[in-house]
Amino acid sequence: MMSLCLTAGAAPPPVSYGVETDIYHPVRAEHGMVATVDALATQVGVDILKQGGNAVDAAVAVGYALAVTHPQAGNLGGGGFMLLRTKDGKTTAIDFREMAPEKASRDMFLDQQGNADSKKSLTSPLASGTPGTVAGFSLALEKYGTMPLNKVIQPAFKLAREGYIVNEALADDLKQYGSEVLPSHENSRAIFWKKDGSLLQKGDRLIQANLAKSLELIAENGPDAFYKGPIADQIAEEMAKSGGLISKADLANYKAVERKPISGEYRGYEVYSMPPPSSGGIHIVQILNILENFDLAKYGFGSADAMQLVAEAEKYAYADRSEYLGDPDFVKVPWQALTSKAYAKSLAEKIDVNKARPSSDIKPGRLAPYESNQTTHFSVVDKDGNAVAVTYTLNTNFGSGIVAGNTGILMNNQMDDFSAKPGVPNVYGLVGGDANAVGPHKRPLSSMSPTIVVKDGKTWLVTGSPGGSRIITTVLQMVINTIDFGMNVAEATNAPRFHHQWLLDELRVEKGFSPDTLKLLGEKGQKVVVKEAMGSTQSIMIAPDGKLYGASDPRTVEDLTEGY
Ligand code: DON
Repeated sequence: MMSLCLTAGAAPPPVSYGVETDIYHPVRAEHGMVATVDALATQVGVDILKQGGNAVDAAVAVGYALAVTHPQAGNLGGGGFMLLRTKDGKTTAIDFREMAPEKASRDMFLDQQGNADSKKSLTSPLASGTPGTVAGFSLALEKYGTMPLNKVIQPAFKLAREGYIVNEALADDLKQYGSEVLPSHENSRAIFWKKDGSLLQKGDRLIQANLAKSLELIAENGPDAFYKGPIADQIAEEMAKSGGLISKADLANYKAVERKPISGEYRGYEVYSMPPPSSGGIHIVQILNILENFDLAKYGFGSADAMQLVAEAEKYAYADRSEYLGDPDFVKVPWQALTSKAYAKSLAEKIDVNKARPSSDIKPGRLAPYESNQTTHFSVVDKDGNAVAVTYTLNTNFGSGIVAGNTGILMNNQMDDFSAKPGVPNVYGLVGGDANAVGPHKRPLSSMSPTIVVKDGKTWLVTGSPGGSRIITTVLQMVINTIDFGMNVAEATNAPRFHHQWLLDELRVEKGFSPDTLKLLGEKGQKVVVKEAMGSTQSIMIAPDGKLYGASDPRTVEDLTEGY
């Protein structure tokens, strides 16, 4: 029986900023805050804020620092998105996603039998799109920052030249992922393997002299050093030598683009997130719009009913993603229809709180005509209330594993985010069609979702996450955990997560939910599978009195607590 439970008007619990009796506690501050995945990079951001820089200055400094201290995802050879909201309430998005090179073609990732070959799109020189990070950071800094580029690059340069001590997280990732992609490339081996042939370990000092040189060139000559100067020469040479496609013209023509964020309204809060070529903003708003038709707070966090409703809403959104989303410079993305309350209501009416609809019964919606595991996220808020959320990436850990010439710069494998062949899943199990087919100068569809929530006209929550296809649902849960379930930002971060992406038809859950809940979900028809942790949020919440509350995700291996 269909049991649509329209919102009965019960008020969600009051927002918590963290009280002594809570289980998890946010970090507190008065003036500014930086949340990143790495202690050294966080310190770089805080130092810039203390020197009088604004949130954009600090974010760009952090972005450059992470390229040195978090080479799994921090990058100069990749791309990403920045969402920012100024103290005056202007919200804007900067798209510095990689672009397919001029010579890219629709079937470039198919083998001779016409099957998608993920080796080509993940670990070959063809895997890289033209990087956008350096252009994106400069656009942000010139338009919204206050400090010169050479000042905000300086800390990263120092970390690369003088080196830093490898922490547990990097040592683990080098062992687990790096040993798959890095060792076959001489330039990469020279950075992450020691002279005696062994891999860097926790406690070793990692000096990146070539990367320091590249940073110095960018600091002195601006982004042209990367896109038109000596670094461009090295990248193009590396590609020509190894069979990659990125040319000097591709680099010279790359442009970061400022775009209007996707916005929505959820239970009285304004939600801003990344527009296409990210799918994140559209689908977070779409899922929230569907969920607004239900009284999640009444069901409660971790209840089978609340999880069922969220999972069903996610299936419809990911089905639409596969059909409609792509680079807005090439395909017309029907964002108004996808984010409309009316469309969400029509989807909510199909959702049964008691019975899961098999994914095979769900198809991308018919829309009304419209008018016209590695990535990293960091959040920064400054003393004036400027807020910046950045998610950027090489795609998977250490990208393609290829370091371009002697630049010390790891290249991305973002081309895998295109749909190599209609219906064939990419590394995150995502499927797509024409809208996200490979094409020259096209930007591959992303799930990265830097997000800012506004309450009573003031910035309230700054958040985002890595996690491939799981980014959208991770950020979604930050929003509902705080708004619907009244959690403080640390509780919302630490709470176990779940995820449904339509295809595969499985409800993926983290450890930590009650077996009773999982059993009930199974009885509703959900195919529940407990798998490894999802996402790694870095979030800041601003209370109405201006106090700052931050939380870094415990899912990342940290070595902040020392022992011996
Ligand atoms: O843009 C995207 O959606 C992906 N390239 C993000 C990759 C990612 O989050 C990897 N982290 N686990």
